[in-house]
Amino acid sequence: MKPLEYFKKNRERMLEELMEFLRIPSVSAQPEHKEDMQRCAKWLSNHCKAIGLNVEIHQTKGHPIVLARTPHSASKRSYMVYGHYDVQPVEPLEGWTKTKNPFEPVVKEGNIYGRGTSDDKGQLFTHLKAIECILKTGSELPFNVVFLMEGEEEIGSGSLSQFLEEHAADLRSEAVVISDTGMPAITCPAVTYALRGVLAFEVFLTGPDRDLHSGIHGGGVQNPAHALCSMISSLHDSQGRVTVPGFYDEVEPLSPYEREQFKKLPHNDESYKESLKLKKLFGEEGYTTVERRSCRPTLEINGLTCGYQGTGSKTIVPSVASAKITCRIVPHQKADVIMDRVCKHIENICPPTVSIRIVRGHAGDPYIVEPDSPKVQAALRALGRAFEQEPTIMREGGSIPITMEFKRKLGAEALLIGLSLPDDNAHSPNEKFSLECFDNGVATSVYLWEELSPLSS
Ligand code: BES
Ligand code: ZN
Repeated sequence: MKPLEYFKKNRERMLEELMEFLRIPSVSAQPEHKEDMQRCAKWLSNHCKAIGLNVEIHQTKGHPIVLARTPHSASKRSYMVYGHYDVQPVEPLEGWTKTKNPFEPVVKEGNIYGRGTSDDKGQLFTHLKAIECILKTGSELPFNVVFLMEGEEEIGSGSLSQFLEEHAADLRSEAVVISDTGMPAITCPAVTYALRGVLAFEVFLTGPDRDLHSGIHGGGVQNPAHALCSMISSLHDSQGRVTVPGFYDEVEPLSPYEREQFKKLPHNDESYKESLKLKKLFGEEGYTTVERRSCRPTLEINGLTCGYQGTGSKTIVPSVASAKITCRIVPHQKADVIMDRVCKHIENICPPTVSIRIVRGHAGDPYIVEPDSPKVQAALRALGRAFEQEPTIMREGGSIPITMEFKRKLGAEALLIGLSLPDDNAHSPNEKFSLECFDNGVATSVYLWEELSPLSS
């Protein structure tokens, strides 16, 4: 039997298995899910054993790393497939209308809804199922394939970074196949050749040492919330550019060729605006929406906290105000350098009336690869065959911080074969994965090993 015939026969069972995987609430960021992370790694490892892989679970300071290998052949080269089994928090729960419980996935209207469906359990699962189809039909697999699956992608991949350092020799690969990105439309499958990097930090301003009565003290002391707001509002100019000195120093201008290519992508400003129920689009002057979202660096407030948040009013001058901030950075910018520049600038603009503390978080570099390498061409052919559409190449704005480390530590380039659609609601309520993308994803993965095969000799 051919691998894809086996897939057709077993598809319903495979979807059931994906549902089981999705039911485990593997939220890496929330300590109350620590046990669920262990359970999820264990589930994954049992599943990999069942499809014929040799499995190791590696405990880390954070969440476990699961390694699963096809039976080893010394004469074959090795490829890696990377994916993550952790998911983002599900709040706000009121937003989930397609399934009341984000960890009780449902199939509706050709999609599967639930947290992790698209980011990244569903996408990762297509590769596992493709390997199952190949192994269980006794078909030729031209490579050793090792699956590297981590539980900390959504919190910066701290443990994996160290793990790669320690296991570099063992994990050397021709390339790392990753399905954890998107495609512009179901009619436009794509290989992503660049990702933005991301860095995170939190700013705390303290005024008085306790919340004060705003009638007794208001006017006499600096309100740290006001100080924070004016500092933050000075971080962008009227053209939407970040004002931190040196922020754009390493950013390269887009080539006319790239800009022409971006115009061909199936993006439409009007429908983008409509899909997000926005009144008007917004962004850095001089760039299109596609460019703003994928090729330009940004500075974004992710959370702003100060003062009384309960029902009704409370007349206080708060003691503390804080902001969670991240920057997306683009190829040639370095995460550590930009972190330094931004944090120092924020310290410099802090007024003398409050004290400031900045806590630095994760920092991951951006990624870029030659878009016309033979491996990218092979991935494009695999996508073209599976989706029966002309595939394209593109850049994306999201981040998978570990991709740059694969290159540095294993010498392996990433092949980013995204299966997520623009309306999949990654990180949002009602996350979904299209069943068509699941089916075509399995086919893409089966074809990929075929298409890569001639390159190995
Ligand atoms: N799957 C995403 C990354 C992504 C999404 C890349 C869409 C390109 C297009 C990944 O799981 C993710 O969300 N990463 C985080 C990393 C961060 C928390 C360190 C991100 O980009 O916010
Ligand atoms: Zn994500």
